Amino acid sequence: MTKIAVAKGDGIGPEIMDAVLGLFEKAEVPLTYEVVEMGKWVFDKGFSNGMTPEAQQTIEHLGILFKGPMETPKGKGVKSVNVTARKTWNTYANKRTFQTLHGVDTVFSKAGIPIDITIVRENIEDTYGGIEHMLTQDVALSRRFITRPGSMQVIKYAFEMARKKGAKRITCGHKANIMKITDGLFLEVFYEIAKDYPELKADDVIVDDLCMKLVSQPNLFDVVVLTNLQGDIVSDLCAGLVGGLGFAPSANIGDHISIFEAVHGTAPDIAGKNMANPTALLLSGLSMLRHLGLMQKAAMIENALLYTLESGKRTGDFGDKTRPALNTTEFTEAIIQNFGKVPGHNPRPDLPDQTVTPTVFKLDKNPLIMTKEMQDEIIIGVDLFIESFEQPREVAEKLLQHSGDLFKLITISNRGTQVWPKGSVFTNLVNQYRCRFESVGEVAVTQIDILELYKRVIQDFKVCSTELLNVWGDKKAYSLAQGQ
Ligand code: NAI
Repeated sequence: MTKIAVAKGDGIGPEIMDAVLGLFEKAEVPLTYEVVEMGKWVFDKGFSNGMTPEAQQTIEHLGILFKGPMETPKGKGVKSVNVTARKTWNTYANKRTFQTLHGVDTVFSKAGIPIDITIVRENIEDTYGGIEHMLTQDVALSRRFITRPGSMQVIKYAFEMARKKGAKRITCGHKANIMKITDGLFLEVFYEIAKDYPELKADDVIVDDLCMKLVSQPNLFDVVVLTNLQGDIVSDLCAGLVGGLGFAPSANIGDHISIFEAVHGTAPDIAGKNMANPTALLLSGLSMLRHLGLMQKAAMIENALLYTLESGKRTGDFGDKTRPALNTTEFTEAIIQNFGKVPGHNPRPDLPDQTVTPTVFKLDKNPLIMTKEMQDEIIIGVDLFIESFEQPREVAEKLLQHSGDLFKLITISNRGTQVWPKGSVFTNLVNQYRCRFESVGEVAVTQIDILELYKRVIQDFKVCSTELLNVWGDKKAYSLAQGQ
């Protein structure tokens, strides 16, 4: 029997986890469990990442973690246990499935519009690295990382999953019209990978348009893949379409370790009252059973759940308020009573079990993921981010004295909008400028040349940050300023 790690979590976590594991036991799911110490209470015991070293060892050994929600301790500098776990173990794809559940009333179920959307959200990169600085006392900067290998991992997973699920369409949500380099890279990788899946209709949509379409015609979409922050927002929007967070399961998939959990949190307002709805955690557990190839048990339990919902059984957070609400234990018992029954709407097919060979892995060093041969690269200049309270023309006059023979000052922008050599006095300024120096004739310069330029500029300004201007072949690896 496969053994998995279980962390019950905080708040309602232990109640709903016990309900789901009890249900698995009654269904004779062939799994054994090792309960690990993880969560706010472990953090309070002095383990700063919210788990004991033994818990980390067990999870890394077993490769599957089924977890309840965990509270993020309040206070500056404290990172969420949930986010730490996803990032530490490189669970690069966050899969969330949203389906119409009969018995859970929504605008769409009432209108007879079926929903079956799977959102795959990149789970590691983007602004979620939390790499942030105040450049001046007025100006905060967050670094947004979108990488080619990271994008490849998640997009490849999305295409493979779509193929396995028999999806017809896969859509990339993005904002590449504005973020041409970061979202542009994600979109480029999407279409590169799409070539290997000719049976799937691959297309893309700008994320704001996607949101509008999701709330008006959600049945148009099948699988949607997005970067981290956009995926986070869009997946909660989709949870709303099918009845709220109580019905939103989530799987965090990595090459070595995968984490299955509900989307919702610890619900402190109802913790310990035996009132919580275990459905989202149960759906996450079913996604885990399918991940492990246990298709038959997953279908049997899901059909019992759907039958229970159809028959109007409900916990207090959803359903027909004129009917009495069941507590967590009674609701779970109702599902168990319905084992073997088939719902009237969308019964899950009885697919054969699949043999999934557990990945045996022992890593002795961190994998370096690379996807491309490095091209010849030259540096042709630098962006210096400086603090200044002066007008653009005054800033430029000073900077021009420091350009030397090797560099020319090309543009100065403020919050991304060009304010020199051309601009408008109607552009509001903050006390931080981006000043772009390129080499005369766009010839290669060295980092020492840049250091010399830097030394000259700091005679007049505080340089808050620098970025090199790289060129590969004829491709400039940086964006232009608005208006440049
Ligand atoms: P929450 O999801 O815990 O609660 C929001 C509302 O939904 C509350 O009214 C709650 O009673 C209700 N609710 C949530 N799950 C429910 C369920 N299964 N059955 C019935 N009602 C349910 O979000 P909140 O209050 O923002 O966060 C509470 C804590 O949970 C925070 O410490 C937060 O950091 C943590 N959290 C943990 C997550 C995780 O472990 N993956 C995800 C989100 C939040």
